[in-house]
Amino acid sequence: MEKLVIEGGAPLSGTIAVSGSKNAALPILMAAILVNGNITFTNVPNLKDIRTTLKLLDILGCKSTFDGSTVTIDCQDLTPEAPYELVKTMRASVLCLGPLLARIGRAKVALPGGCAIGARPVDMHLTALEKMGAELDLDSGYINGKCKGLKGAHIQFPFPTVGGTEHVLMAACLAEGETVLENVAREPEVSDLAEFLIKCGAKIRGHGTSVIHVEGVESLAGCEYAVMSDRIEAGTFMAAAAITDGEVLLANCPFKELDAVVDKLREMGVLLEQRDDGVLVKRNGELVGVDVTTMPYPGFPTDMQAQIMALMTLAKGSGIIEERIFENRFMHVQELVRMGAKIKLKGNSAMVRGVDTLKGAPVMASDLRASASLVVAGLAAEGTTEVQRIYHLDRGYERIEEKLTNVGARIRRVDE
Ligand code: EPZ
Repeated sequence: MEKLVIEGGAPLSGTIAVSGSKNAALPILMAAILVNGNITFTNVPNLKDIRTTLKLLDILGCKSTFDGSTVTIDCQDLTPEAPYELVKTMRASVLCLGPLLARIGRAKVALPGGCAIGARPVDMHLTALEKMGAELDLDSGYINGKCKGLKGAHIQFPFPTVGGTEHVLMAACLAEGETVLENVAREPEVSDLAEFLIKCGAKIRGHGTSVIHVEGVESLAGCEYAVMSDRIEAGTFMAAAAITDGEVLLANCPFKELDAVVDKLREMGVLLEQRDDGVLVKRNGELVGVDVTTMPYPGFPTDMQAQIMALMTLAKGSGIIEERIFENRFMHVQELVRMGAKIKLKGNSAMVRGVDTLKGAPVMASDLRASASLVVAGLAAEGTTEVQRIYHLDRGYERIEEKLTNVGARIRRVDE
């Protein structure tokens, strides 16, 4: 296994180009299953999860190429089975179920397990698909699905689930009649998926709000589509620039999609200025602790919770971070404490008291964003931090050590 070795203390300075969004690209690639024709995607990040998705699509019969950040894909003749060996490595694979049912009327998809941050059931996905006429039964860990064509339905989600919204949105595009989706996720990645589907000929309106209307169509045609930039990668680099007291220009950086993160960082004393060539990030003296509660979009994103916590460990004063989306998303806390952070957990809240310095230490990554928070902390800690099990990190960050080295970080990837 590989690890990252970081010598802390170097202020970051220079330009970092933000890559395409993992959480937009994953559902968008799955949506290719719906399309009868050639598609070219640009600005696709070269990440493990993306390569896993293309492997899954290949098994389903989609021919694809991936060159640089461009993916071409053609899903003409499909087979219905998504094997457990693949689905267990990436939960988002379950999103192929709805598109397979919509396109060929049958699917056999392994039920995804949980992961480090929570049980992450997909009950809301399945209930909605059944309301659209899918017959789903669970047999030895696989969802066996069939339908004689999906029908439009009125779906009210109990919770604005991102994956659930994306899943049903895709299925509804080829369903017969109108589907109304209520209490949906408003994340920008959902809107990016909708924009791609509309470009292929889907009839969708209301994405970005809590109610989406979809008028089913006969078929979808191929097109060319550029994936949006990754707002969570951008937010992670904002935290890294701030914690090292550096000055970084983030190119291709989403800004309005990061409203809640920008507001909190500014409250902490980080200066963020949107310019023509990107977003300039630096800090204005001492950072102060703030309170953060993670919420569905447009609230503060749970995917930035670990990273802002790392920043808060070195801020003046204290702050309370409440995690309201996942039941177990504080795996980074004990590792930060090992670096000298003062954090107390109470239920789904963490009380972070700022300290003057963190001390480098060997730490263990447990999930994608926890890994990112340990890198952020290591960049500012005194001495050497070794982040182990960085396969978690590689799922969501493209060449992170290269991007950080280019702006002055002392970070390298070594074999354990
Ligand atoms: C997406 O996961 C993202 N993943 C996650 O990013 C992100 O943290 C999450 O949305 C919330 O923003 C991708 O887009 C690939 P949810 P998803 O369905 O769709 C519960 C990262 O770090 N729930 O909105 O799985 C669920 O257990 C990853 O990039 C049900 O109970 O999130 C969770 O507690 C991590 N039943 C909450 O809802 C369901 O049927 C939010 O889940 C579905 C969800």
